[in-house]
Amino acid sequence: MYSNNMASLGSGIWMLLLLLSFFCFNAVVFTGADGQGLEVEARRPISHHKGNNSLLFDVKRFGARADGRTDDSKAFIAAWKEACGATGKVKLLIPKGMYLIGPVKFAGPCKNVSSLTVYMKGYLKATAKLSRYGSGTGWVEFGWLERLTLTGGGTFDGQGAKAWPYNCTNDSKCKLLPTNVKFVAMNQTVVQGITSLNSKFFHIALVECKNFKGTKIKISAPADSPNTDGIHVERSSSVYISQSLIGTGDDCISIGQGNSQVTITRIKCGPGHGISVGSLGRYEDEGDVSGLVVRDCAMSGTTNGIRIKTWANSPGSSAATNMTFENIVMNNVTNPIIIDQSYCPFSSCISTEPSKVKLSDIYFKQIRGTSSSAVAVALECSKGIPCQNIYLENVHLELSSGEKQATSSCKNVRGARYIGEQIPPPCA
Ligand SMILES: *[C@@H]1O[C@H](CO)[C@@H](O)[C@H](O)[C@H]1NC(C)=O
Ligand SMILES: *[C@@H]1O[C@H](CO)[C@@H](O)[C@H](O)[C@H]1NC(C)=O
Ligand SMILES: *[C@@H]1O[C@H](CO)[C@@H](O)[C@H](O)[C@H]1NC(C)=O
Ligand SMILES: *[C@@H]1O[C@H](CO)[C@@H](O)[C@H](O)[C@H]1NC(C)=O
Ligand SMILES: *[C@@H]1O[C@H](CO)[C@@H](O)[C@H](O)[C@H]1NC(C)=O
Ligand SMILES: *[C@@H]1O[C@H](CO)[C@@H](O)[C@H](O)[C@H]1NC(C)=O
Ligand SMILES: *[C@@H]1O[C@H](CO)[C@@H](O)[C@H](O)[C@H]1NC(C)=O
Repeated sequence: MYSNNMASLGSGIWMLLLLLSFFCFNAVVFTGADGQGLEVEARRPISHHKGNNSLLFDVKRFGARADGRTDDSKAFIAAWKEACGATGKVKLLIPKGMYLIGPVKFAGPCKNVSSLTVYMKGYLKATAKLSRYGSGTGWVEFGWLERLTLTGGGTFDGQGAKAWPYNCTNDSKCKLLPTNVKFVAMNQTVVQGITSLNSKFFHIALVECKNFKGTKIKISAPADSPNTDGIHVERSSSVYISQSLIGTGDDCISIGQGNSQVTITRIKCGPGHGISVGSLGRYEDEGDVSGLVVRDCAMSGTTNGIRIKTWANSPGSSAATNMTFENIVMNNVTNPIIIDQSYCPFSSCISTEPSKVKLSDIYFKQIRGTSSSAVAVALECSKGIPCQNIYLENVHLELSSGEKQATSSCKNVRGARYIGEQIPPPCA
């Protein structure tokens, strides 16, 4: 029975201790890691070093494997915790490599951080397990931060194809899929030179942001991917989005409720549903939209060019006013200019009551190109509250087919003004 000598008993205990420490180490530091290639350094990370007076926090120093298979979320969160807690100029680095991550929140406030750069060279791949995400949250979320710069040429790949069958397009009560990158309650944000691919839901969303500047952003998802809006903006002000390339399955840019001073320039959109205001008026207490400028954009093969849509039977009484759409080129767009105040996409919604969202002071200037449908200009406003002061100046939209002239359609428009060239001819 007791044939083991002391030596073998001793080595058995050592094996046990080794195994124990091995498993504990994995459990505490790298949950989900396969245990290979652990470096001692990773255990006590050299968390940062100085470069140009900014503190550098490299996710790899916090245990990110960047092998595209191991879940690196914990390393990102650990790096963030230290970066946000630091004092002075801070840089969070995501080096080249492929990182599989679940939902990650970069939340502030970071009290002693004077400027914050997330320098992302890497390729982030979202976990496909939908149970990991909360309804309508962000896969990667930045919140309650001041002076964030997100840049570096990296990619957010939402791995949407496996999630799209679970979309909510026909069901108002289902669990919303996650947005690729969400910004919440941010002040003075710069996003430059990043890519978003195949988001499960919206690619990028801004909620309650002030002073946001997004440039050189690339967004791509298939034309038939559901709810994959490129950039959605809500309850934000002083937002500037420019020089970006957006091809997706829903709106390239959507301006939701409660926004003011939003400027959008030099966007190439297509495929997609165009640049939209709305849908507005779904809920009781929505904020107004005002001071929107969309300028120097090109739409190609999109279902809409410029669209303003509000819900029928809307419970609240919000308004959208002072909106300018200028120098927009339409290439084979189904509805180049469309105002639709009887939006009602669910079988359960009621379209009998008119929309209560008031639309006024809307300027369309230098809009030209081709329409793939007969009605190139549709101004279909609410029977309850007609549109007021719609200006069309130098509109030249022909049919893509080159056949007969395109037409206009109007409902409940009060005080439309037509200046300069008008093709199609205005409503009688
Ligand atoms: C320091 O800044 C200069 C210019 O801003 C840049 O060229 C250089 O690469 C930076 N060095 C480091 C270590 O970040
Ligand atoms: C912030 O910095 C100040 C002065 O440098 C220091 O006294 C304070 O403890 C720091 N606060 C935090 C939360 O790190
Ligand atoms: C953003 O700035 C405003 C002042 O403009 C301030 O009241 C607010 O607290 C700031 N928000 C955050 C998240 O720092
Ligand atoms: C979106 O969901 C509907 C069911 O509500 C489904 O029929 C459709 O195929 C889904 N779309 C995609 C692209 O998977
Ligand atoms: C979803 O709704 C659209 C119209 O909004 C309809 O064309 C489509 O057939 C519906 N799909 C399902 C799966 O109910
Ligand atoms: C309309 O919006 C523009 C752009 O935001 C702004 O400059 C202008 O002052 C606004 N006009 C009125 C009358 O509010
Ligand atoms: C224009 O778009 C329609 C679909 O909306 C498509 O069938 C047609 O081939 C397109 N024409 C050109 C010239 O691209």
